[in-house]
Amino acid sequence: MKTPTVNSVTHPSSTHFLLFVFSILFAYACQRTEATAQELLKGFKATPNASVSSFQALLSDSTDTFSLGFLRVNSKELALAVLHVPSSEQLWLANPTQLAPWSDRTQLFFNGSLVLSGPRERLFWSTETQGDRVVLLNSSNLQVQKLDEYVSILWQSFYFPTNTLLENQNFTSNMSLVSSNGLYSMRLGSNFIGLYAKFNEKSDSGQIYLRHKALEAKANIIEGQGAIYARINSDRFLGMYQVGTIPPVDMLPFNSFQRNITGFVFLRLESDGNLKGYYRDGSKWILDYQAISDTCELPNPCGSYGLCRAGSGCSCIDNRTDYSSGSCFESTSSGDFCSEGEDDYWVLRRKGVELPFKELMRYEMTSYLEQCEDICEKNCSCWGAVFNNGSGFCYILDYPIQTLLGVGDESKMGYFKVREGAGKKKMDVGFGVGIGVLCGAIVVLIGAISFGSCKIWMRRRGVKQILEDEDGISPGPYKDLASASFRSIEMCNARR
Ligand SMILES: *[C@@H]1O[C@H](CO)[C@@H](O)[C@H](O)[C@H]1NC(C)=O
Ligand SMILES: *[C@@H]1O[C@H](CO)[C@@H](O)[C@H](O)[C@H]1NC(C)=O
Ligand SMILES: *[C@@H]1O[C@H](CO)[C@@H](O)[C@H](O)[C@H]1NC(C)=O
Ligand SMILES: *[C@@H]1O[C@H](CO)[C@@H](O)[C@H](O)[C@H]1NC(C)=O
Ligand SMILES: *[C@@H]1O[C@H](CO)[C@@H](O)[C@H](O)[C@H]1NC(C)=O
Ligand SMILES: *[C@@H]1O[C@H](CO)[C@@H](O)[C@H](O)[C@H]1NC(C)=O
Ligand SMILES: *[C@@H]1O[C@H](CO)[C@@H](O)[C@H](O)[C@H]1NC(C)=O
Repeated sequence: MKTPTVNSVTHPSSTHFLLFVFSILFAYACQRTEATAQELLKGFKATPNASVSSFQALLSDSTDTFSLGFLRVNSKELALAVLHVPSSEQLWLANPTQLAPWSDRTQLFFNGSLVLSGPRERLFWSTETQGDRVVLLNSSNLQVQKLDEYVSILWQSFYFPTNTLLENQNFTSNMSLVSSNGLYSMRLGSNFIGLYAKFNEKSDSGQIYLRHKALEAKANIIEGQGAIYARINSDRFLGMYQVGTIPPVDMLPFNSFQRNITGFVFLRLESDGNLKGYYRDGSKWILDYQAISDTCELPNPCGSYGLCRAGSGCSCIDNRTDYSSGSCFESTSSGDFCSEGEDDYWVLRRKGVELPFKELMRYEMTSYLEQCEDICEKNCSCWGAVFNNGSGFCYILDYPIQTLLGVGDESKMGYFKVREGAGKKKMDVGFGVGIGVLCGAIVVLIGAISFGSCKIWMRRRGVKQILEDEDGISPGPYKDLASASFRSIEMCNARR
């Protein structure tokens, strides 16, 4: 005799049945993506599938943790990417500066070289090798291998990092990490790790804003002995090493240093210029290291001509300008004042300002403010100068003015050139008024109910927010890993 309970199980309701069908379909769909190839051999070809909205996996590692595939970017473009599958986190891009179109004429093939080509034979990217197969290792390292008596590695993605350095990946002096917006880079010097900002497109090397010199506590750097390289060690530190010696010449510990944690680790140069380390804990990324912990010490937290004050956030160097729209002047700041037609500027002065990384800035010694200003005024590649009346230091800025620090000390004085025509966007005001008029019209036309909802809408989004959206140049907010960028890609086989 059957009990009612058993009955309810053996005769599922229609909802249960639907759920069942869905789970089968889902499992089937996931099966298909999980059955991604584990190696690519000569003759392999793939084109992006129009129906894929985020990521099309082509090659997986043996643990199915990492995947190489087509990543959809800005809805119409394609990057060849290696992702951490469970989190959809991008670890490596083949062609970060030259995206291909997401079109059936874009093709990835392997003919000894792994090649990404576009319409009309356009070459986007190639490994330029003569290998036998492509594999993705369980470290996320993509390799082109030659199979003779033994396996030799002709090319590997670990030699060409993008913005991310992975556990056990050797970072050498001929590599760089570049933030996804192309503004910041990390490079090695003879005995230090440097972070550089490309504030001026006319300068090749960029402005250094953080310099971590090897402490040489466990081993000294021996000149002429071997190159310096850096690596994230599984004990949770960023080590600097000299080729040929085993102990590190420097150790930058992560928070979880020497704690018994095994999750996957990586270090990333973020688009705000900070260098952050993360590790995987179950289904989350945990922030485990950051090179710059104070917002105002970042290279450009408030945008051009912004002023950052510890505790009170962003304002503008020009106190007549309201920061509320997310920036201080329309960003026509580039190049210098040396060429004709580019040489008009007006001068903005402000007391109580300081440079965020002044110890790394070029300076001259001057006796008084006018002398310091004069050096900058006479040099068309100078954008500004900050004078310290206490010490006589005159710091020279040879790039468009970025965010300065607001300090209480009025003896620190800034002189800044502002390109003529660089004013507040008039549109902000117009747009604001436009919104106002529109709301007014709605009030008149539709009456009290519409008025109510308009007000609610304005309050929810905030008028400020609307203006910011319009402006589109607000500096990147601090994003923790849990935030939007991490969820921007959804994959079928993301395990929830
Ligand atoms: C592979 O294809 C690329 C692009 O068409 C070509 O330049 C290259 O010579 C080919 N390599 C081999 C080994 O055939
Ligand atoms: C990754 O691969 C290496 C060598 O093939 C192996 O020793 C190691 O156990 C693998 N790690 C994982 C997590 O599978
Ligand atoms: C990194 O360098 C060390 C020491 O030179 C070497 O043993 C190791 O194999 C290298 N790792 C990779 C992934 O190339
Ligand atoms: C680390 O943790 C694992 C499991 O959590 C445990 O088995 C192991 O003994 C621990 N090792 C140390 C050195 O504490
Ligand atoms: C703006 O700065 C000028 C010059 O430093 C000063 O005279 C003026 O009072 C300031 N205005 C406001 C509103 O703070
Ligand atoms: C700079 O310092 C000197 C003496 O220390 C003082 O006389 C002068 O007024 C200061 N200049 C400014 C602009 O604050
Ligand atoms: C002008 O400034 C640039 C950049 O700061 C510097 O390299 C150059 O030497 C300066 N020129 C003169 C004449 O001082």
